[in-house]
Amino acid sequence: MRIGITNLKGGVGKTTISINLAVCFAHMGYRVCIVDTDTNQSSLKWYGARDESLPEVLAIGATDAKALNKAVDKLHKDHDIIIIDGTPSLSETTIPQIEICNKHKPNPQACKEQKAAGSSFWQLERHYPQKK
Ligand SMILES: Nc1ncnc2c1ncn2[C@@H]1O[C@H](COP(=O)(O)OP(=O)(O)OP(=O)(O)O)[C@@H](O)[C@H]1O
Ligand SMILES: [Mg+2]
Repeated sequence: MRIGITNLKGGVGKTTISINLAVCFAHMGYRVCIVDTDTNQSSLKWYGARDESLPEVLAIGATDAKALNKAVDKLHKDHDIIIIDGTPSLSETTIPQIEICNKHKPNPQACKEQKAAGSSFWQLERHYPQKK
Protein backbone atom coordinates (compact mmCIF):
# COMPACT_ATOMS: atom_id res chain seq x y z
CA MET A 1 0.00 0.00 0.00
CA ARG A 2 1.20 3.51 -0.78
CA ILE A 3 0.05 6.49 1.23
CA GLY A 4 0.88 10.06 0.26
CA ILE A 5 0.60 12.92 2.73
CA THR A 6 0.51 16.20 0.85
CA ASN A 7 -0.66 19.77 1.37
CA LEU A 8 0.58 22.89 -0.36
CA LYS A 9 0.80 24.71 2.95
CA GLY A 10 3.76 24.38 5.29
CA GLY A 11 3.51 23.43 8.94
CA VAL A 12 0.09 21.76 8.69
CA GLY A 13 1.17 18.38 10.05
CA LYS A 14 2.27 16.36 7.00
CA THR A 15 5.33 14.98 8.75
CA THR A 16 3.49 14.48 12.04
CA ILE A 17 0.82 12.42 10.23
CA SER A 18 3.45 10.51 8.22
CA ILE A 19 5.52 9.41 11.20
CA ASN A 20 2.49 8.63 13.40
CA LEU A 21 0.93 6.47 10.68
CA ALA A 22 4.27 4.74 10.14
CA VAL A 23 4.68 3.98 13.85
CA CYS A 24 1.09 2.70 14.17
CA PHE A 25 1.56 0.35 11.19
CA ALA A 26 4.96 -0.81 12.48
CA HIS A 27 3.43 -1.67 15.87
CA MET A 28 0.78 -3.67 14.01
CA GLY A 29 3.54 -5.73 12.42
CA TYR A 30 3.68 -4.17 8.96
CA ARG A 31 6.98 -3.46 7.24
CA VAL A 32 6.86 0.30 6.84
CA CYS A 33 9.00 2.87 5.07
CA ILE A 34 8.70 6.65 4.88
CA VAL A 35 9.98 8.39 1.77
CA ASP A 36 10.76 11.99 2.69
CA THR A 37 10.46 14.26 -0.36
CA ASP A 38 10.95 17.50 1.55
CA THR A 39 14.36 19.19 1.59
CA ASN A 40 13.78 20.10 5.25
CA GLN A 41 14.26 16.33 5.93
CA SER A 42 11.96 16.36 8.98
CA SER A 43 11.07 12.67 8.65
CA LEU A 44 14.70 11.73 8.13
CA LYS A 45 15.72 13.71 11.23
CA TRP A 46 13.00 11.96 13.23
CA TYR A 47 14.24 8.60 11.90
CA GLY A 48 17.80 9.44 12.89
CA ALA A 49 16.72 10.23 16.44
CA ARG A 50 14.44 7.19 16.86
CA ASP A 51 15.39 4.46 19.30
CA GLU A 52 16.49 1.33 17.40
CA SER A 53 14.81 -0.96 19.92
CA LEU A 54 11.36 0.21 18.73
CA PRO A 55 9.42 -1.58 15.96
CA GLU A 56 11.29 -0.85 12.77
CA VAL A 57 10.37 2.03 10.49
CA LEU A 58 12.76 2.83 7.66
CA ALA A 59 13.02 6.38 6.27
CA ILE A 60 14.82 7.49 3.15
CA GLY A 61 15.06 10.81 1.31
CA ALA A 62 14.01 11.43 -2.31
CA THR A 63 13.73 15.08 -3.29
CA ASP A 64 13.36 14.76 -7.05
CA ALA A 65 10.86 12.87 -9.20
CA LYS A 66 13.33 10.33 -10.53
CA ALA A 67 14.63 9.48 -7.06
CA LEU A 68 11.07 9.18 -5.72
CA ASN A 69 9.93 6.75 -8.43
CA LYS A 70 13.13 4.74 -8.11
CA ALA A 71 12.84 4.57 -4.31
CA VAL A 72 9.22 3.39 -4.43
CA ASP A 73 10.00 0.75 -7.06
CA LYS A 74 12.86 -0.57 -4.95
CA LEU A 75 11.05 -0.43 -1.58
CA HIS A 76 7.90 -2.02 -2.92
CA LYS A 77 9.30 -5.57 -2.68
CA ASP A 78 10.31 -5.48 0.98
CA HIS A 79 7.70 -3.18 2.50
CA ASP A 80 3.98 -3.57 3.05
CA ILE A 81 3.36 0.15 3.39
CA ILE A 82 5.21 3.07 1.84
CA ILE A 83 4.33 6.50 3.22
CA ILE A 84 5.42 9.53 1.19
CA ASP A 85 5.88 12.72 3.21
CA GLY A 86 5.21 15.65 0.88
CA THR A 87 6.58 19.13 0.32
CA PRO A 88 4.82 22.38 1.36
CA SER A 89 4.52 23.57 -2.27
CA LEU A 90 3.77 22.26 -5.73
CA SER A 91 7.24 20.80 -6.24
CA GLU A 92 8.81 18.37 -8.68
CA THR A 93 7.71 15.46 -6.49
CA THR A 94 4.08 16.53 -5.86
CA ILE A 95 2.53 15.16 -9.07
CA PRO A 96 4.57 11.91 -8.99
CA GLN A 97 3.61 11.50 -5.32
CA ILE A 98 -0.09 11.74 -6.21
CA GLU A 99 0.34 9.42 -9.19
CA ILE A 100 2.21 6.82 -7.14
CA CYS A 101 -0.44 6.78 -4.41
CA ASN A 102 -3.70 7.36 -6.27
CA LYS A 103 -5.64 4.94 -8.34
CA HIS A 104 -8.08 7.81 -8.79
CA LYS A 105 -7.27 11.25 -10.09
CA PRO A 106 -7.86 14.40 -8.01
CA ASN A 107 -11.49 15.50 -7.93
CA PRO A 108 -11.94 18.19 -10.64
CA GLN A 109 -14.62 19.94 -8.53
CA ALA A 110 -12.16 20.17 -5.62
CA CYS A 111 -9.55 21.66 -7.99
CA LYS A 112 -12.13 24.22 -9.17
CA GLU A 113 -13.00 25.22 -5.61
CA GLN A 114 -9.32 25.52 -4.69
CA LYS A 115 -8.76 27.71 -7.73
CA ALA A 116 -11.68 29.96 -6.79
CA ALA A 117 -10.23 30.23 -3.28
CA GLY A 118 -6.90 31.40 -4.76
CA SER A 119 -4.94 28.23 -4.05
CA SER A 120 -2.14 27.06 -6.33
CA PHE A 121 -3.75 23.59 -6.19
CA TRP A 122 -5.56 24.54 -9.41
CA GLN A 123 -2.31 23.88 -11.26
CA LEU A 124 -3.03 20.17 -10.85
CA GLU A 125 -5.89 20.61 -13.33
CA ARG A 126 -3.33 20.82 -16.10
CA HIS A 127 -2.19 17.32 -15.28
CA TYR A 128 -5.64 15.93 -14.61
CA PRO A 129 -8.06 17.42 -17.16
CA GLN A 130 -11.72 16.69 -16.55
CA LYS A 131 -13.31 13.98 -18.68
CA LYS A 132 -15.96 15.33 -21.06
N1 LIG B 1 -2.82 17.86 14.96
C1 LIG B 1 -1.94 18.74 15.45
N2 LIG B 1 -2.26 19.57 16.46
C2 LIG B 1 -1.38 20.46 16.96
N3 LIG B 1 -0.13 20.62 16.50
C3 LIG B 1 0.25 19.85 15.50
C4 LIG B 1 -0.62 18.87 14.91
N4 LIG B 1 0.04 18.25 13.89
C5 LIG B 1 1.27 18.83 13.86
N5 LIG B 1 1.40 19.76 14.83
C6 LIG B 1 2.59 20.58 15.07
O1 LIG B 1 2.71 21.46 13.97
C7 LIG B 1 4.08 21.65 13.66
C8 LIG B 1 4.33 21.37 12.21
O2 LIG B 1 4.04 20.00 11.98
P1 LIG B 1 4.74 19.22 10.83
O3 LIG B 1 6.21 19.42 10.84
O4 LIG B 1 4.25 17.82 10.92
O5 LIG B 1 4.12 19.94 9.57
P2 LIG B 1 4.51 19.82 8.05
O6 LIG B 1 3.27 20.04 7.27
O7 LIG B 1 5.24 18.56 7.81
O8 LIG B 1 5.49 21.05 7.92
P3 LIG B 1 6.49 21.37 6.71
O9 LIG B 1 5.64 21.79 5.55
O10 LIG B 1 7.35 22.47 7.24
O11 LIG B 1 7.26 20.11 6.43
C9 LIG B 1 4.90 20.75 14.59
O12 LIG B 1 5.40 21.52 15.66
C10 LIG B 1 3.86 19.74 15.08
O13 LIG B 1 4.17 19.29 16.38
MG1 LIG C 1 7.14 18.19 6.94
